[in-house]
Amino acid sequence: MRFNTKVKNCTLCSELVPHRTNVVLGEGPVPCNIVFLGEAPGATEDKVGLPFKGPAGSLLRADAYAAGLREGKDFHILNMLKCRPPDNRDPRLEELRNCLPFLMHQLSIIKPKVIVCMGRFAQGFVLQKHPREIRVLQNAGKIIKPKRTIKNAKPQAILTFHPAFVMRNKGNNIEEAFIGHLRKARKLACIAQTAK
Ligand code: URA
Repeated sequence: MRFNTKVKNCTLCSELVPHRTNVVLGEGPVPCNIVFLGEAPGATEDKVGLPFKGPAGSLLRADAYAAGLREGKDFHILNMLKCRPPDNRDPRLEELRNCLPFLMHQLSIIKPKVIVCMGRFAQGFVLQKHPREIRVLQNAGKIIKPKRTIKNAKPQAILTFHPAFVMRNKGNNIEEAFIGHLRKARKLACIAQTAK
């Protein structure tokens, strides 16, 4: 079965499946040097079937542009979950586990050089830690080697804020730091590309 069909037919998460309008696979070129990794689709994303299409997505795209990254060329956007949790609640551990093989497959074909881990769920993924153990403010800006083996790729990961958090903290220098992290991702991807 084709990957997209497999995800669309997935019925593993009993609370997510009955409420979803669309599964949200991701958006961007394949392969692609940079992956932006978020949490889960929200209401807008569920409606249109594409990631980060609401206000947090507008901020992400504007800040990526400010960091010199071109949409449709330089980055691919993915989420930990492909289905929207009801009322925008946090993803559950079981749901993250159910969706993990889909994410691993996507990463193995996108083959990123850098994964930008936005928020504690994406950071928990590369650090192999429970999301509750993640200290997003302390981690912000760190570059790490993911503690997971991704088929066909050996990306670095940069840990940063979720765009929704950046949006809620306008005027606190968080956005400047976030743009700095995206710039760092661009540089890391350039370095990895020229070292090939
Ligand atoms: N927040 C996310 O983490 N992902 C989206 O696609 C939208 C909002």
